[in-house]
Amino acid sequence: MNLTLSIIYLISTVTFTFGLKFLGHPETAKKGNLISGIGMVLAIIGTLVFHDIENVPTINYILIGAALLVGTILGWIMAMKVAMTKMPELVSLFNGFGGGSALLIGIVEFGNNVGVEESEKVSAAILATILSAIVIGSITFTGSLVAWAKLDGSMKDLRLPKYNLINNILFVALIAFSAYIVMMDTDSMVLVYTLLIVSLIYGYLFVAPIGGADMPVVISLLNSLTGIAAAITGILYGNMVMIVGGILVGSAGFILTFVMCTAMNRSLGSVIFGAFGGGSDALAGPTGKVAGTIKKTTASDAAVMMNYANKVVIVPGYGLAVAQAQHVIHELEELLTKKGVDVSYAIHPVAGRMPGHMNVLLAESNVDYGKLIEMDDINPQFTNTDVVLVVGANDVVNPAAHNDPSSPIYGMPILDVENAKHIIVNKRSMNAGYAGIENELFFNQKTSMLFGDAKEALTKLVAELKNM
Ligand code: TAP
Repeated sequence: MNLTLSIIYLISTVTFTFGLKFLGHPETAKKGNLISGIGMVLAIIGTLVFHDIENVPTINYILIGAALLVGTILGWIMAMKVAMTKMPELVSLFNGFGGGSALLIGIVEFGNNVGVEESEKVSAAILATILSAIVIGSITFTGSLVAWAKLDGSMKDLRLPKYNLINNILFVALIAFSAYIVMMDTDSMVLVYTLLIVSLIYGYLFVAPIGGADMPVVISLLNSLTGIAAAITGILYGNMVMIVGGILVGSAGFILTFVMCTAMNRSLGSVIFGAFGGGSDALAGPTGKVAGTIKKTTASDAAVMMNYANKVVIVPGYGLAVAQAQHVIHELEELLTKKGVDVSYAIHPVAGRMPGHMNVLLAESNVDYGKLIEMDDINPQFTNTDVVLVVGANDVVNPAAHNDPSSPIYGMPILDVENAKHIIVNKRSMNAGYAGIENELFFNQKTSMLFGDAKEALTKLVAELKNM
């Protein structure tokens, strides 16, 4: 590799590392994205201009240029058009594309090895790397597409009988089959296409049964797999930028997977080997166990309650993002603070539909970052809280996680809002949240339901408070 390209790759690698560092905080995240993006553009241009292409005589700049153009235009349109609430779906789709490219690279590289002289064949280590790209890329591809469909609501959880057993047998079969191909040193395309199909099926079956609010863990894991797949293809081409970029995404995704496992109180083993969702047969769905009467409230009654409170905690959830009510909730918070009320936000690690969703959403409306309190820190404070205002959150405040061993969310740490003196819940109806289960919090004697779209309800609440 020539010196200029090495220097360009070094600069790109540094931008990725700094970009990732900046992505760690909502205030610097935009800058981080931009810095990494510039690094990626540098790496692509550098590769095209300076790469040693003697070994690739058929390089076709017109095809590459056309692919870059189509990809850039499509990516631009998708990113510009996507609604904030659809961001998690888009991220899943992009994860899938990463896996898809790794599997295609694997297939091409395996094909390059077919029918060549024995002396020119790749080593067993490279062959194993090629097969890993195909297997991991395929699992990431179909797994991410299923995740995308489930987040989008167009696919329901699918549980075949004994799905755990089937999945785990497939997993072992994939490893054994890959090892067989390496040991036999075969160049049979039929075997590789069989491996590809089984991997694609495994990716589908791996994600299809996961529901009951466990999606955050699997999304983080798929994220990590995309990075690993990119790093593997980097090894195949001896390309430092691909290796470093892949490792950064892979390890960041892996750390996130552990964070999500802790947040959901799941072990990584149960994620990989499928026993999740609160027991192999636990299916989300209304259980009919929760009954009682609910108490409705109005914006003016809720405003009175909050006006005379000393301490109010706001619990934002997915519905806040749907309603795009982040600006009006900030207005409410500032209004209460001016009236001398101590206001903070309780942030559950899996509230919303992507890691850090609530932090990003509230940062958009310039909420002071110091007012966002993580679950472990806010939970002990609920006993001293006069009013909790739950806005568009459901699963993350569902006491079934503590009380009902048959619930698919049993064991997941939640925000203990029931310990507060009063609870106001804003949502549009009695519909369930993502896990599809009923919530006994709504029937709690301390709870008042403020029905309506979050933006409309909060706007009325702000108007009432301004009149007091
Ligand atoms: P959810 O449990 O999904 O509940 C959201 C609630 O918001 C719904 O019950 C809905 O009730 C209400 N809502 C929807 N639109 C609204 C609007 N316009 N105005 C007011 N309310 C509205 O949300 P959560 O408590 O944030 O929990 C997140 C769930 O998603 C967890 O189960 C989590 O595991 C899962 N999940 C999270 C992630 C990540 S990484 N965060 C990824 C995938 C899945 P109505 O329809 O009655 O209004």
